[in-house]
Amino acid sequence: RRLGRTGRSLWPILDPNDVLGEMRLIKSPNEVACLQVAATITAQAHTDAMRYCKPGMVEFELEAALFHSFRAAGAGRLGYGSIVASGSNACVLHYTDNQTKMNENDLILIDAGAEFQYYTADITRCFPVGSRFSPEQREVYQSVLLAQKECVAMARPGRTLKEIHEHAVEVLTEELKRLKVLKGTTSSLIKAEAYRPYYPHGTGHWLGMDVHDVGRYYEQAYSNSRKLKPGMVFTVEPGLYFGEDSKAPAKLKGIGIRIEDDVLITEKGHQVLTSAVPKEIEEIESFRG
Ligand code: GLY
Ligand code: MN
Ligand code: MN
Repeated sequence: RRLGRTGRSLWPILDPNDVLGEMRLIKSPNEVACLQVAATITAQAHTDAMRYCKPGMVEFELEAALFHSFRAAGAGRLGYGSIVASGSNACVLHYTDNQTKMNENDLILIDAGAEFQYYTADITRCFPVGSRFSPEQREVYQSVLLAQKECVAMARPGRTLKEIHEHAVEVLTEELKRLKVLKGTTSSLIKAEAYRPYYPHGTGHWLGMDVHDVGRYYEQAYSNSRKLKPGMVFTVEPGLYFGEDSKAPAKLKGIGIRIEDDVLITEKGHQVLTSAVPKEIEEIESFRG
């Protein structure tokens, strides 16, 4: 190959996604501030929705109320299409039809995030369309909440998203046994991925300018999940889903629950950017009249 008078060969071709992805993975204080505004606006909108929802409304009425809250608080736009899923619609993972009339006895799952200065929040909450959780809905909710809180508590420098996911799988498998959905030893159930029909997604993803933000999840190929560092932001979002056609006991069918918060890794541990929106059953029920 001719090098020409500079003596320099052709420029190598690099995938900018890799370079920019790494730059975007650790957020600067200014980026964290934008994410916190997005999270605060989103938390307020979810809390407003918990007050506004009434049986007989159509899902899109809540979708519209969320958009109103976001824009009225200064958000630029949605971070992603809002999921407003009542009853068994919650078991459809990226449900965005939002056209079902909401039934008093169902739960509603809202997964929606505002974007502020190009940074997006990503929050999921579930609450009863009526005023109280049914006993079965309460049981499943407590299972997901337990997994979610334990996973958030694990977040600190040096941990990995893989470890957090593995912990979610372990807790949810134990809970699936308690709920009489699965039977057997926890280790063999995990090995056989018996939880998968009821927990078919990961426990979190990077969050930033994109809802599923760029940046590698592994240090090399698929070997080592990378260690968390201060400035990284990600979601913690375990869930359990019992679709109408699942093999779950009949009384659980139609229940789909996910609880999602946005977490920043700090020098000493973590900070939950979305802690302003309630997730305890008693708090949620107090908003439901
Ligand atoms: N809203 C998309 C997600 O939670 O990943
Ligand atoms: Mn998410
Ligand atoms: Mn989400």
